[in-house]
Amino acid sequence: MTATLCEYKPGLENIPAAKSSISHVDGQQGILEYRGINVQELAFKGSFLETAYLLIWDKLPTKEELEGFESDITYHRRIKYRIRDMMKCFPESGHPMDALQTSAAALGLFYSRRALDDPKYIRKAVVRLLAKIPTMVAAFHQMRRGNDPIQPNDELDYAANFLYMLTERKPHPLAARIFDVCLTLHAEHTINASTFSAMVTASTLTDPYAVVASAVGTLAGPLHGGANEEVLSMLEEIGSIDNVRSYAEHCITNKKKIMGFGHRVYKVKDPRATILQSLAVQLFDETGHDRYYELAIELEKVIEEKLGHKGIYPNVDFYSGLVYSKLGIPSDLFTPIFAIARVAGWLAHWKEQLAVNRIFRPTQVYTGVHNASYIPIEER
Ligand code: CMC
Repeated sequence: MTATLCEYKPGLENIPAAKSSISHVDGQQGILEYRGINVQELAFKGSFLETAYLLIWDKLPTKEELEGFESDITYHRRIKYRIRDMMKCFPESGHPMDALQTSAAALGLFYSRRALDDPKYIRKAVVRLLAKIPTMVAAFHQMRRGNDPIQPNDELDYAANFLYMLTERKPHPLAARIFDVCLTLHAEHTINASTFSAMVTASTLTDPYAVVASAVGTLAGPLHGGANEEVLSMLEEIGSIDNVRSYAEHCITNKKKIMGFGHRVYKVKDPRATILQSLAVQLFDETGHDRYYELAIELEKVIEEKLGHKGIYPNVDFYSGLVYSKLGIPSDLFTPIFAIARVAGWLAHWKEQLAVNRIFRPTQVYTGVHNASYIPIEER
């Protein structure tokens, strides 16, 4: 059957690509649920690994299940020395997302067994990916500065250990708790670009490392996960509160996107942005004021005034950068952190895809010519 132009939707907007029970977004009311539970409740009452378990296995773990999952992940945090050696050869000027994509794909070389119908294999792959991705992000960060990677600390939980591997200092409990909440908020978000990428790759029945590597590559772009890094550069460029209005007006007149605003689904303020904003305030109260916060508030006010009628409000990336920079994290690690969290959602979709798999093979509306003649090279 030939597709017609009227069936074609650029960006597949509003076209269902799967049936899924993993998460739900109500873009009009600003609600995000993971397996039916409001993300706010999970963020404040649960932990990231508990959330990952819920997303992937569709149930809240019992105390024993959670402890077993956490301890398996702690056990698998280290990366093979040959992966570290490979990462040492990466250029220090390379972007950490490129380093992460390469290292995630390399896991497939080291763990090449593929048994997609074996629940034990699925669990092992989930544990390995959740355990090793943060270690690889932190290792690249250390090595690009000429340091040896810092080994994971088994006494620390998932979030605290990552912050420790970045700095070699045990983080303040509030910093670790806030970071864990950030991971929960980024863990899953229905079928966005990177998740779709993961699903398409999964549908070929390739290995889970290739699934995650393809999703990392997709997340890196500035219209997706890469926006959080760009928000901070934008605030730096604006520089002072007096420049906010003229910056916003200049962008709007020149049809330049303002980073951290707008969303394909949310037409109100992203609920994750609201929570992240409150976390930023909590951190500033504890550790001191941040000069970009007032700027961000003013920008939100001006954008609401100018673009609120189009449903353009802050998205998840707007306040996350403020939180991460207050935690002392360099801005080019913001998107890799998004990836650390989103591995949970990608793996949940991988598992869901495998259960009902049919390879993705969309069609196209052909706009080229037919019966064209081949012109010999000397006659062109
Ligand atoms: N700044 C200014 N105008 C905007 C923005 C923005 N950030 N976002 C959308 N618009 C305008 C856009 O110019 C268009 O106006 P008009 O109809 O007059 O031409 C209208 O809103 C619709 O925009 P669109 O680009 O067609 O909307 P979309 O659903 O394709 O794009 C988006 C969604 C997230 C790609 C877009 O809002 C954007 O580029 N935002 C900035 C980048 C960003 O913050 N990305 C993070 C997204 S949330 C986390 C994630 O997915 O990783």
